[in-house]
Amino acid sequence: MLEIIEEHLKAISLVKIKTKEESESFRISYLGKKGILQALFSEFKTVKPEDKKATGAALNTLKKAAENALLIDISDTKINKNHNQEDYTRPGYSNLPGAQHPISLVRNEIVKIFERMGFVTTEGPEIEDDWHNFSALNFPLEHPARDMQDTFFLSKDPDWALRTHTSSVQVRTMEEQTPPIRIIAPGRVFRNEAISSRSHCVFHQVEGLYIDKGVSFADLKQTLLAFSKSFFGEKTEIRLRPSYFPFTEPSAEMDIWWGLENEVDHRMTKGTGWLEIMGCGMVDPAVLESCGIDSKEFTGFAFGMGIERIAMQRFQIPDIRAFYENDLRFLANFKGA
Ligand code: DAH
Repeated sequence: MLEIIEEHLKAISLVKIKTKEESESFRISYLGKKGILQALFSEFKTVKPEDKKATGAALNTLKKAAENALLIDISDTKINKNHNQEDYTRPGYSNLPGAQHPISLVRNEIVKIFERMGFVTTEGPEIEDDWHNFSALNFPLEHPARDMQDTFFLSKDPDWALRTHTSSVQVRTMEEQTPPIRIIAPGRVFRNEAISSRSHCVFHQVEGLYIDKGVSFADLKQTLLAFSKSFFGEKTEIRLRPSYFPFTEPSAEMDIWWGLENEVDHRMTKGTGWLEIMGCGMVDPAVLESCGIDSKEFTGFAFGMGIERIAMQRFQIPDIRAFYENDLRFLANFKGA
């Protein structure tokens, strides 16, 4: 049987099909219901078990060769038919425009509001050394405050880590510029935390810093109130709660009044009606000095907020993981937003 197959293969290699008709009669004789291949496949059943493998492979090769020898007539295909219609009144193919990611939408809005107030947008590296992420910000070595932020350490010497907050950009800016300084620094930050519906190991923050002569806590409060009214609505109320950060003194946490009637999910304000938006405070004089700024001449305030929390609140997204899954059904919701 192998010999017969070989002969057919040779014959097919010599065939030159030029017309549709030739192609059709070739198809019938080789690939038709009563064709050569069908007959050979029936005969295959009688082949000795030890010859089955080689004969089967040869049969398949022959089938492929027969199929390849046929004329491929594209004039009959669907695509071609459509093209040939030349109906210029048909609606065009619609393309699928993308959408901005909700994190980008919220970040851009925050940035725009602060830029209107005279803040300049700055960026810093995502891989930071210990000095910029911790030491210059008044986190002494071995200080328990370092535990507030579980760090992804990269190397010991040099002491590199993924930045745990955008406050590192404060340090870089103060080292490079002289006051007055008025910057915001949006960016990605990393924490070695378990992933859940409320927290992720990668997220985004916007940092703010204002250093000048005579900057006071009242300036901080008014700036944050102006931002909150602009972002959340004219009627927004804020409150500042005492808190602790190593790099600010005094430190506060800013909440906005969210109201219990808007509490679709009890985790939103935990039944208090107040939604925590950011940390803030007056830059600690020790931080100013670490960065080469005279703390007797200058004062300043700083603040830092998480973009995901604000985006979750704005778009009523109950699970932070949705931002990182790139599910098109989720992302398509932000078209035209
Ligand atoms: N870096 C803080 C954090 O990641 C947020 C923060 C709090 C930034 C107070 C500040 C600030 O600039 O003054 O939790």
